[in-house]
Order: sequence, then structure tokens, then C-alpha cells
Amino acid sequence: MSCCIYSCSSAPSFSAPSASNRSSRFTFSSSSRPRIHCAFGGTVAEPKVTAAAEPLLLNAVHGKDVDRPPVWLMRQAGRYMKSYQIICEKYPSFRERSENVDLVVEISLQPWKVFKPDGVILFSDILTPLSGMNIPFDIVKGRGPVIFNALRTGADVDQVREFIPEDSVPYVGEALTILRKEVDNKAAVLGFVGAPFTLASYVVEGGSSKHFAKIKRLAFSQPKVLHALLQKFATSMAKYIQYQAESGAQAVQIFDSWATELSPVDFEEFSLPYLKQMVDAAKRTHPNLPLILYASGSGGLLERLALTGVDVVSLDWTVDMAEGRRRLGQNIAVQGNVDPGVLFGSKEFITNRIKDTVRKAGRGKHILNLGHGIVVGTPEENVAHFFEVAKGLRY
Ligand code: CP3
Repeated sequence: MSCCIYSCSSAPSFSAPSASNRSSRFTFSSSSRPRIHCAFGGTVAEPKVTAAAEPLLLNAVHGKDVDRPPVWLMRQAGRYMKSYQIICEKYPSFRERSENVDLVVEISLQPWKVFKPDGVILFSDILTPLSGMNIPFDIVKGRGPVIFNALRTGADVDQVREFIPEDSVPYVGEALTILRKEVDNKAAVLGFVGAPFTLASYVVEGGSSKHFAKIKRLAFSQPKVLHALLQKFATSMAKYIQYQAESGAQAVQIFDSWATELSPVDFEEFSLPYLKQMVDAAKRTHPNLPLILYASGSGGLLERLALTGVDVVSLDWTVDMAEGRRRLGQNIAVQGNVDPGVLFGSKEFITNRIKDTVRKAGRGKHILNLGHGIVVGTPEENVAHFFEVAKGLRY
């Protein structure tokens, strides 16, 4: 079965260059070696990629000519994997699993060893920096994040300390450096941070929230207090991005998962300026470091997400990929956006959704991913199928 996406006659037109404009076109089936079909007839073996080459993910983001979209999955390390569950039995504390260098490296590499994704994300959490900022927390099985003393007042915010990554989370830097060596440019090592508004939502609400009433009360009755907290997070997370890059991360994803709880006018006040500050600071010291921005349910905010200056906007599955691409324009890369629920479908259904998403994203500047993290209970064999199909695709 050929997985070639653009050479099939039913492919709709889009603005990316079509296969017919190019001197050669690529096809691949998982059972055969890749071949290049030359325009003037005959085939030659695909040249071997040297180990020192830039990872596909970076080439794709930088707009270089790539022969397929790179692929990784949000939450690719975690509870759907049997090997992770075995580690959880031995080390029941999430904080221990995510703050011990050996465990962080081992868990980050679990999906890499099995699925060979094009991105290997650090096993950690957006809340990991909190204890270094004097905000004690835990992640409790069955309950999720718990902040022991939720912040509500100006005095509470005054107690929040500036984050110094090398002092507070040296295990993150060490793990990234080891991962970079282990992965050896065969994939990109990805770091990540939480965005100021999303972090603030956890520390003000005291944990996960449904209606975000407490942070909205603060935003709409004592905005100065919230701004002071957001500023502390923005300064700290900008430093954290730089620290991760210096330690070995080749791209960093910013999770503003709950920014879309804000109406656009409030997003412009309580999220956008802080994201922009972080992006500007990271770009000043690491101009070539790709920054990816994810917000869940972001259809109403898409154009505003691009205003942050990030290199990649990660779409969730409620946005049609072709529409998302049109709205964002060709200068910015896109990531996503298969519904994580698709991984509960049949193999044929999964295959079709991958192809549909890749076709709609167009050629280049696309990182194939889910629209949010993998759901607990997802069959591992379906994840394996996702990667196999994705890596067999050719533009
Ligand atoms: O993508 C990866 O594989 C890297 C690992 C990763 C985790 N958390 C590990 C984790 C990443 C990128 C995160 C980010 C994160 N953490 C976000 C942003 C992404 C998103 O989902 O929108 C958020 C909002 C958090 C906060 C958080 N941490 C939540 C809501 C939960 C789930 C609570 C639960 O029990 O369901 C966590 C815990 C957490 N972080 C788990 C994992 C694998 C599950 C708990 C466990 O494995 O023991």
C-alpha cells in the first residue's frame, strides 16, 4: 500500500508546492526501502541521512524541504504504557518519578525506544518549578495537582520567590543533557514550560478547576495582584526556557492549556503580554530555538496565539487543520491535531485520520501530533500503529 499523500489524484489543492512541481517524488511502503522516483524515469535508493544531520523536526519548523512531517505525541510518556506503570508501582510518587534524574531519563526514553518518535519530550510537569518558587505542591493519584496553600492575596504573591532553575531543578538540566546524548540528533529533544496564566490558574484555584471562578474573581476584582503573580511567572519561565535550551533542549513547548478559559479581551490582558515577554526573552538569547505554543480549545484565539511570536502553534482537534493553516498563514508552523480519542478507533480509522490531517496541513512546516495529550487507557498497539503510519508517509 502506498502512503504517498500528494501524488494521489484525489488530493485537493492547497497553496503548498505540489508534487508535480518538483523534480522527484517520494513513495514508501513500510515493507520496502524508500525509493526516489525520478521525474526522468527509473528509481534510485534514497540517500542515507548522516547521523550529524539536524533532526527532522527542526528542519520542518525552519521551513526546510522535508519529505514527511515529523511526529511526536503530547504525553507520549505516561500511564498508557505498561513499562511506565511498572515504574509507578516501584516509585508511587509522581514527584519522585519526575525529580530523579535516572527516572526522568528512563521514562522520557520509554516511548523513544518503542516508537522512535521525531521528538523526545522531557518527562516532567508544568508544575515542577513551583516548589523552587516557594509554592509547595503535589500531584496526587486520582486527584491531580494539589497546591497546599492556594494564593489569593497580594501578601501571598509577595511570598513567591524568583525561580533559579540551576538551583531548584538541577535534575531537569542533567536529564536534558543526558537525553540529548542518548537521542543523538536522531530526534529532537523537547523541553517544556507552563505559561503564566495556566500556572496562575493552578496556584490560585489550588488545583485543577472546572469554572476557574477563583482566578477570575482575582482577575476581575484585584487585577494588580494577579498581574504581579503573572509577572513573576513570566520572568521565571523565560529563564526556565533559556536553562532548558542551554542544557540540551532543541525546541521548547509552552503550555497555556487554560488560556482559552479567557475571553479574547481578557486573554489580551492576562496572557498575551506575558507570553510575548517570554518569547522575546528566549529569542534574545536563543534566536534559533523553536518555540511551540499549545492552548487547549484555541479556535477562538488562534490569530492571537500567533501574535506571541512563537514559531509553531499547536492546534487542538476542534479546529479543522486546513482552516487553522489558512488563519495562521504560511510563515508560522503548525502542530497537531488528531483527536486523542481517534487512538481508540480501528487501525484503518487511525490511518485515515492521519492522512487527512497531513493533507490538510499541506507540505512542510507541520509537526504531526495529537490535539491534546494521550488519554489513559489508549491501546499501546494503536500508538505503535500511529507512529508506523506517520513515519511511512511521504509528501
Ligand atoms: O508529554 C509528555 O510525555 C511529558 C510529560 C508531561 C506531563 N505533564 C507528565 C504528567 C507534560 C508535558 C505535562 C504538562 C502538563 N501538566 C500540563 C500541560 C499539558 C496539558 O495536558 O494541557 C498540565 C495542565 C499539567 C498539570 C497536570 N499534571 C495535570 C492536569 C495532571 C493530570 C492529573 C491526573 O491524575 O490525571 C498532571 C499529572 C501528570 N503529569 C501525569 C503525567 C504523565 C499523570 C500522573 C502520573 O503519571 O502519575
